[in-house]
Amino acid sequence: MNKEYLVIANWKLNMDVNNTNWWVDKFEEHFEESEAYKVAIAPSFTEIPILLNAIGEADLEEDVEVYAQDISQFEKGKYTGEVSGFQLIEHGVMGVIIGHSERRKFLGETNKAINQKIMMATEYDLKPVVCVSNFEQVEAISSILTDSIRHRIVIAYEPLEAIGSGHPDSPEHVDHVLTHIKKILGDSVPTIYGGSVDADNISDYLDSDLISGFLVGTASIKPQDFLDILDRIHEG
Ligand code: 13P
Repeated sequence: MNKEYLVIANWKLNMDVNNTNWWVDKFEEHFEESEAYKVAIAPSFTEIPILLNAIGEADLEEDVEVYAQDISQFEKGKYTGEVSGFQLIEHGVMGVIIGHSERRKFLGETNKAINQKIMMATEYDLKPVVCVSNFEQVEAISSILTDSIRHRIVIAYEPLEAIGSGHPDSPEHVDHVLTHIKKILGDSVPTIYGGSVDADNISDYLDSDLISGFLVGTASIKPQDFLDILDRIHEG
């Protein structure tokens, strides 16, 4: 196996300062480097400096990147509560999750705002990991796909019914959807899967040529669960 999977821990709104430090301590104890995966962790904005510091102290900078869970579509100015790309890169953030279905649903994020966020992330050389659950959302992205976006973007297919439900989508159906996503956006755009991924089911997805990584929610909250996923990927 010579594929390097991008495995992203999406911590959502679950971690505080203590948990973050504890997580990295535990992770460091058992983490093994492998050519089979690259790890990124996306905490809340407030935990970003804490996580970066903990990763530095654990000597994991080469192995673990820090992503944000969102980016403002605005650059600077009178936008209360927003966090911009220039602030993220100042801390050393390398990527950003954009358009998660939870933001689309609970915070009213539109395709238009998501496209602006993709452009903003690209401008700051942050990797935009854009979550989609249907083809209309993919079509919307295709309308802004320049070469510089195409070189950086990752599409995360996250079917709504699979998120946090314990019922992941079947590998066959994921492949079917990713084939279509690549038809719309181009073969070179990396596609990853998210939705109830855990150590028990991850191996089912490793035969697919179309899956380049995983976006993990629930099974990223406990470091051992996340490490178990990495182990399975390493074993192939
Ligand atoms: P779960 O892994 O909890 O299903 O969450 C998936 C997800 O939304 C990752 O972004």
